[in-house]
Amino acid sequence: AAATGKYADRFGGQLVLVTGAAGGIGRATAFAFAEAGARVIAVDRDAEGAARTAELSRLIGAPEAWAETVDVSDEQAMEKLSEKVAAEYGVVDVLVNNAGIGLSGSFLDTTPEDWRKVLDVNLWGVIHGCRLFGRQMAERGQGGHIVNTASAAAYLPSRTLPAYSTSKAAVLMLSECLRAELVGKGIGVSAICPGIVNTNITSTARFAGVDAAEEKRRQRNAARLYGLRNYPPEKVADAVLRAVVRNQAVVPVTPEARGGRLMA
Ligand code: NAI
Repeated sequence: AAATGKYADRFGGQLVLVTGAAGGIGRATAFAFAEAGARVIAVDRDAEGAARTAELSRLIGAPEAWAETVDVSDEQAMEKLSEKVAAEYGVVDVLVNNAGIGLSGSFLDTTPEDWRKVLDVNLWGVIHGCRLFGRQMAERGQGGHIVNTASAAAYLPSRTLPAYSTSKAAVLMLSECLRAELVGKGIGVSAICPGIVNTNITSTARFAGVDAAEEKRRQRNAARLYGLRNYPPEKVADAVLRAVVRNQAVVPVTPEARGGRLMA
């Protein structure tokens, strides 16, 4: 299929790697780049979901698309991935560090093990991606862009997401530090901060010391309060492509995310 996306001129033929691409925001982002004619690498620990994203990306307009099964929190696996990508597909033009997991619970009930799980994926996964692929971009010397999926939780404190919010606040800050470091090399870094988006993240999230059903009800109510029950991942994907095109630093996406922080 020919590229028809509105950013086809900008991304046609570029190599784009998206983590957490088996579903939700990651899959929608892979599709948006595919529509713009980019070559897509869909990375996820869910092999079947990643393969499906790659297959559909080709149908949508990606001249080439591949799936890689990797746990982003696994340093060695990420190193292997970065070597394989460089050897077989080339240097990535756009990296989207999007894989993440949820964890709800009170601070005092969250165990060290749960803290580690969330930080391993949400923070270390992003660090590995930035280090490994950022270095390849820098050494190539032809620019590039890194997009990290943070969250409005990075700057809106809550009583029920302490570990998750902390991991996302760290992602926001590391993105801004890396942006400052790479600006001189023509490499952009953006942090995307969505509020509540309609994906499976709450259904797969773990619940520490709280009743899962009650917590889901609470989150649904909060979303309804904001009138945000159906904010589609496709709109977040659109914000990702726009962030690259406009080289935006911090991008709040949903209304309540924008209410908490103005775009920088
Ligand atoms: P999702 O659960 O639909 O997608 C997350 C994907 O990441 C899944 O395909 C999952 O298999 C993958 N993943 C999880 N851990 C992984 C690991 N260790 N290695 C490789 N892949 C892994 O959820 P969603 O909402 O699409 O989440 C995407 C990102 O957006 C996450 O970073 C999340 O924290 C962030 N976000 C989501 C919001 C929401 O309301 N849904 C709001 C703000 C941020």
